[in-house]
Amino acid sequence: MNFLEERILKDGIVKEGNVLKVDSFLNHQMDIELLDRIGEEFYNRFKDKNITKVLTIEASGIAIACFVAKYFNVPLVFAKKSKSVNIDGDMYVAEIESFTHNCKNQVIVSQKFLNNDDHLLIIDDFLANGCALQGLISISENAGATIEGIGIVIEKGFQIGGKVIRNLGYHLESLAIVESMDASTSTVIFRDQGGNG
Ligand code: G4P
Repeated sequence: MNFLEERILKDGIVKEGNVLKVDSFLNHQMDIELLDRIGEEFYNRFKDKNITKVLTIEASGIAIACFVAKYFNVPLVFAKKSKSVNIDGDMYVAEIESFTHNCKNQVIVSQKFLNNDDHLLIIDDFLANGCALQGLISISENAGATIEGIGIVIEKGFQIGGKVIRNLGYHLESLAIVESMDASTSTVIFRDQGGNG
């Protein structure tokens, strides 16, 4: 079991509806030492790639991606969620659907900050159905950038996102993959990822 899986077992709370609450250390209150370790772990997994930028999506992805960007010593760009249909200026735009929140958002990145010379590491906190990630992939492709890898902190392995993204051929690394969880017994089962698990 790795450091993140241990922390999820210690402080994560399983809610009805297959929701894992990690807001005491990851996406509301944030344990900065843990985020630093996550940044270092993604660096170790992707350091052989020539990463020029880290790309994430607001809000929770930003803090994690900051630490990743610091280890790679590259800028971090985050996609902004926007409700407005009239986007001014030169923006890459993708539409993403949130099943959790049952809504659609446009996400935007200024064309100033991504281009076809970029080699991207995409980072996010959760991977569930993969809609947010598909939006980031679409924006990266529109920019002509190369996606070198995708780093996810917690993948919900029983939802389709991880399978879809791996089937598309992307190098996806998830620090913890939840295979199943049970709110009535407060149990979380992780996928065995061999040496990385
Ligand atoms: P998807 O992007 O993978 O398709 O996921 P989905 O639409 O199902 O999830 C929408 C939001 O809910 C995302 O955050 C995602 O990170 C979060 N989420 C999904 N499953 C869980 C879970 O089990 N626990 C927690 N804590 N979050 C989950 P978001 O709306 O983009 O939020 P934020 O980054 O702005 O905070």
